[in-house]
Amino acid sequence: MYKLLNIDGKAKRGEFHTTHGVIQTPVFMNVGTAAAIKGAVSTKDLEDVKCQVELSNTYHLHLRPGDEVIKKLGGLHQFMVWDKPILTDSGGFQVFSLTSLRKIKEEGVYFSSHIDGKKIFMGPEESMQIQSNLGSTIAMAFDECPPYPATREYMKSSVDRTTRWLERCKVELNRLNKLEDTINPNQLLFGINQGGTYEDMRIEHAKVISELDLPGYAIGGLAVGESHSEMYRILEAVVPHLPQEKPTYLMGVGTPENILEAVDRGVDFFDCVYPTRNGRHGHVYINQGKLNLFNAKFQLDDRPIEEGCQCPACQSYSRAYIRHLLKAKEMLGMRLCVLHNLYFYNTMMEEIREAIANNRYQEYKQAKIDGFNVKV
Ligand code: GUN
Ligand code: ZN
Repeated sequence: MYKLLNIDGKAKRGEFHTTHGVIQTPVFMNVGTAAAIKGAVSTKDLEDVKCQVELSNTYHLHLRPGDEVIKKLGGLHQFMVWDKPILTDSGGFQVFSLTSLRKIKEEGVYFSSHIDGKKIFMGPEESMQIQSNLGSTIAMAFDECPPYPATREYMKSSVDRTTRWLERCKVELNRLNKLEDTINPNQLLFGINQGGTYEDMRIEHAKVISELDLPGYAIGGLAVGESHSEMYRILEAVVPHLPQEKPTYLMGVGTPENILEAVDRGVDFFDCVYPTRNGRHGHVYINQGKLNLFNAKFQLDDRPIEEGCQCPACQSYSRAYIRHLLKAKEMLGMRLCVLHNLYFYNTMMEEIREAIANNRYQEYKQAKIDGFNVKV
């Protein structure tokens, strides 16, 4: 469970104790949607880039290879050979962003698979059953991530349904955790706060779901098209209404700067495809911003991506070599960029934790953000 170690302003430094080990927070979860970190990164590599938590998706694994298959093979940890914590997203978001011919009903969502068009139904019970078969450390509630913008009227009915779905998720996961052949009898459920950019609905929803006394709460439905300042405004409004003695997870966020700002508003968990997706396109993060290694100016640059970086890429290889690999479409090019980026994110989280522990988070945050905006 969550242990709050110290607070600096609103920034929290803590530990989240799970069946699969302790998570030091604030933490960035490394995204491996289909039980694979895109860019030919293995779970062995994840150790090398200081990953604490891997994140996979219910929707993708249900379609392929099938959660029943993974259960037969001993669960997701055994399948992908990763014994540290895994968080699975519920399908709530992917069903809304990837599928077609969607119909939302009280019982759940009817949709067509993005792989073969097959008709599928997923509701709170199905999502919990799939996540139970996967045996992840943390299961996410099945929610609706409403579009941005949405009318107040639509938002209200959506949030109310998400609340009813959360109650069903809780009942179902409690039942599944007690079954004899369950993969992870200690599987945890995090609730998800919704309400778009309507502060009052966010706050009301946060109060209602907090009463369910779940081990953690996420803030969903952000980074869906609203501005950064709107996102920060919502965080400022809603985080104080979620339990401080439990982790708060901001879903799908974000840039290093977004993370620094959200930590400052009390957020503990993050996940985002940026380090992996950008890495696959040759975009790498450094303390002075971002580099595009396809750029001609790196042709003869024999420095590592970032001077002093201890990641597997920077330990051995130059910008010029990685640029060559990328241009030649060699897989190693992408792989090295992704490893560097994950290491960059995980190292920044380590620095964040240390800064909070030393009560100098404000100085740290400002210096880090100023550094990103230096033109190199
Ligand atoms: N990932 C990013 N945003 C969301 C959200 O609102 N809900 C879920 N389930 N996953 C997300
Ligand atoms: Zn590096």
